[in-house]
Amino acid sequence: MYLQMNCIIVDADANNRQELVGVLQHYGMQVVAQLSSVDTLPPLLQRGDAPHLVIINLDPSPQESLKKAGYLPRQFGAVNFFMMSSVVDANLLMDAMHLGVKEFIPLPIAEEKFAAAIERVAQQHGMGKRAKVIHVIPTIGGCGSTTVACNVATSLSQTNRTALIDLDLVRGGAASQFDLRPRYTIADVMGTEKLDRHLLDNALSVHPGSKLAILARPELPEDTQRVTQPGMARLLGLMARTFDFVVIDSLMSIDPIYTVAVQNADVNLIVMQLNVPSAKNAERFVGALRRMGIESSKIKIAVNRFEKKNRDIEPREIERALGLEIAWTIPNDFKSAIGAINFGEPVVLRAPKSEMSQSLNGLALELKGNHAKANAA
Ligand SMILES: Nc1ncnc2c1ncn2[C@@H]1O[C@H](COP(=O)(O)OP(=O)(O)OP(=O)(O)O)[C@@H](O)[C@H]1O
Ligand SMILES: [Mg+2]
Repeated sequence: MYLQMNCIIVDADANNRQELVGVLQHYGMQVVAQLSSVDTLPPLLQRGDAPHLVIINLDPSPQESLKKAGYLPRQFGAVNFFMMSSVVDANLLMDAMHLGVKEFIPLPIAEEKFAAAIERVAQQHGMGKRAKVIHVIPTIGGCGSTTVACNVATSLSQTNRTALIDLDLVRGGAASQFDLRPRYTIADVMGTEKLDRHLLDNALSVHPGSKLAILARPELPEDTQRVTQPGMARLLGLMARTFDFVVIDSLMSIDPIYTVAVQNADVNLIVMQLNVPSAKNAERFVGALRRMGIESSKIKIAVNRFEKKNRDIEPREIERALGLEIAWTIPNDFKSAIGAINFGEPVVLRAPKSEMSQSLNGLALELKGNHAKANAA
């Protein structure tokens, strides 16, 4: 069973085709064929593995192209047809709709509307987006973002299908926090071949104690070069359709693969400590997120290693500087933290009664919100 939507593109212009492939991959779609004319399309639609979607660019002669391709939606009723044109003419649009075209996309593409149209097709095939994506971002080394990501993911996995992706591609230690030595990693699911459940399942290591599915960082640092922006977009699109929650242990970066994570995240969770270097970086990165167009509702601040006495900055000062409230505060608990690391088991499992665990479970619950219930409905 494919977990991914398959799509064929028909466009006379090779550059347009290439551009559209990029856009579609961003939404987790697999482009199985790119054609320059509709003439070679019918045989591909007769096959057992016909695509879910065909996108035809009617330009440069939209009326003529529509005449030529117009019979296809009726003949291949199981396939969704989108037609695009830079000519937005009421007659053309009406003709296309009468012929059974699912969506008419005016060019240039308005990304939000296009995404919504794709989502409607995905839902129709039982592949609507499900997962809430939680992107965990550190502000300085050692502020505890891996601890937060691993424990929040573990906590969520008690009640929901949850995956953890280690996106600290060279130094990352998510798998070792669970005492796992994965055979396959994120670098193995980046290829251009079709990603099916089998391939994804193989690459995920399941933690026996929690059933959390972990996608580890590559073993060899040089393999991190196999992780690409389109691969990451495809992976997130696919995982979002497979899990209830996807937690990403990430980096403070706007490199292309991290931008994919930022933009796909329902929550960008910024982990900080109450000191000046951490606060400065938090402010710089929140600024970058805002310039990338991320709404405030998708940015949350968690203060880790909180101590009532030992702190350089007051929480109120941070909130004023960031223009955001601190969403969660996790106490400093060296004994529980180090015990968990040495044992290779997250704190929430190793020391569930500790104040640190209770706080991390509370954060998971806060992040969960109504999402799980909304999905169950
Ligand atoms: N709330 C806490 N109380 C005490 N120690 C903590 C707490 N959270 C994390 N730690 C400890 O701080 C250290 C760094 O944590 P962690 O690896 O999670 O941070 P990080 O931000 O991911 O660091 P890196 O920059 O290496 O990615 C670890 O030894 C961890 O056990
Ligand atoms: Mg880390």
